[in-house]
Amino acid sequence: MALKLIVDTDPGIDDAMAIFYAIAAPEIDLLGLTTVFGNVTTPKATRNALYLLEQAGIEIPVAEGMHRPRMLPPFPPSSAVHGGEGLGALDVPTSQRQALVESAPEYLVRMARAHKGKLLLCPIGPLTNVAAAMDLDPSFCGNLKGMVVMGGSLRAGGNITSAAEANFYHDPHAADYVLRYGCNITLVGLDVTNRVICPRSFFAGLACESRKIGGLLRDMADYYIDFYETVGKFAGCGMHDPSALVACIAPELFTTEPHALRVTCHGDRSGEMIIEESSTAQPVNVCTDVQAEAVKQNFFNNVAKLS
Ligand code: BDR
Ligand code: CA
Repeated sequence: MALKLIVDTDPGIDDAMAIFYAIAAPEIDLLGLTTVFGNVTTPKATRNALYLLEQAGIEIPVAEGMHRPRMLPPFPPSSAVHGGEGLGALDVPTSQRQALVESAPEYLVRMARAHKGKLLLCPIGPLTNVAAAMDLDPSFCGNLKGMVVMGGSLRAGGNITSAAEANFYHDPHAADYVLRYGCNITLVGLDVTNRVICPRSFFAGLACESRKIGGLLRDMADYYIDFYETVGKFAGCGMHDPSALVACIAPELFTTEPHALRVTCHGDRSGEMIIEESSTAQPVNVCTDVQAEAVKQNFFNNVAKLS
């Protein structure tokens, strides 16, 4: 039976890749999307999520999430990386469909109860909605099968500051809360996603197989790779969010280490993830190595099946 999955997302170019992968992979039963700020504002994240689903021709619920971090004031969106509208140079139209009236934390709590022990949550943006769901229902995490989170960095340094990965940086209080009080968490951070790099030719190949969706991703990846080149990385773009989705169904491609973790919430190193073995928190399975070629191949083979 396919794995019941919800993706919590801030689309975002690599989020779009991850969402299309979740739609394409037969091992995944994608139940819905929840949206959060990060790469764009939350209303734009919702609009983008609805647009991406419409492009793929599937109708699943989208629940809009929190508009600002748990404690910090809002950050400006990452438009240099993902474009002003979040999907590269694409001018994203408003979808005919609408988000649920229910908020993302409410939807997450309800779905975790309805699919007790069977639902996997894959957050690929700041963890604000997840923290809010934990506040709403203390048994939320226990009701999940688990979480595969894209975020953090153990030994790879940061990508938004020298210390912090972007998703944790954008809401360090939520990240700290989820890592301390969540359970059965696998963390797919920069230690592995920085090694899963795809060049323009990868997306050109994908567009040959999947004209519509592959073509969209090729155009978005062009923008994303332009950004990577401005920061001196010429080999392609990091497949951050898609790697987390691949880890949901092919965990054997990743090596993990168990660590109790904290996230720094103030000062220059805000968003940095640190090991705190003395903590009583349940250890997180931190991905430290990856079979990068196999992850890329898995992503390609699945998304290539879309129209
Ligand atoms: C993460 O930050 C965002 O820019 C990406 O979508 C990804 O979720 C990588 O650090
Ligand atoms: Ca993201």
